[in-house]
Amino acid sequence: MAFDTLSASTPLKVVAVAGSSFLPSRTLVLTDALTAALGEQLNIDVHTINLGDIARDLGAALSRGELPAHVEAELKQIESADLVVAATPVYRGALPGHFKHLFDLIGIDSLANTPVLLAATGGSDRHALVIDHQLRPLFSFLQAITLPIGVYGSTADFENYEISSSLLQARIQLAVERAVPLFQAYRREAPARLKIA
Ligand SMILES: Cc1cc2nc3c(=O)[nH]c(=O)nc-3n(C[C@H](O)[C@H](O)[C@H](O)COP(=O)(O)O)c2cc1C
Repeated sequence: MAFDTLSASTPLKVVAVAGSSFLPSRTLVLTDALTAALGEQLNIDVHTINLGDIARDLGAALSRGELPAHVEAELKQIESADLVVAATPVYRGALPGHFKHLFDLIGIDSLANTPVLLAATGGSDRHALVIDHQLRPLFSFLQAITLPIGVYGSTADFENYEISSSLLQARIQLAVERAVPLFQAYRREAPARLKIA
């Protein structure tokens, strides 16, 4: 399904956050698969933030004012996104602390009305509900519009840091197919934010 209206106009700004501390990262692989699938349907510019790259400097800052410039720039990218992809590994049955810390420092109104596609990876399927029990409430608090289908991958869905599971591939496609029509309910407004039309 092509999304002709938007593909003819300015690209949507997609900012993807992959929340692992380590490389290689299944979470980053899943994030890249999601942005690639979105790119097949929508005209997008993608900026991907690998949280491990900024986690040490992010973690040392107790407030927004303490962030070094390169981390502040990444937060501004998230705040100015038309669509956020938020993907995290599960640590101890929960969100990693540095992922939560990132969104603790995001402007409290900055993601209002911004669509967010949720994703997570874990060692097993048992913690798949981290998407609906932890990611979704966090982004609901921020008044973001969490997209209806989240995508969870467990270690068994990957081989050599590539997606090997056809079920996970299908879930990625389904998440994107369900997300794209929602953009038909939005219109682009200055400065760079999608609002409910
Ligand atoms: C500190 C730590 C805690 C973890 N806790 C869990 C857990 O509670 N449940 C789970 O399913 N996987 C857990 N895992 C496994 C990771 O979530 C899983 O390997 C994930 O895909 C790693 O993502 P990455 O490859 O992007 O780093 C944990 C891994 C680490 C490093």
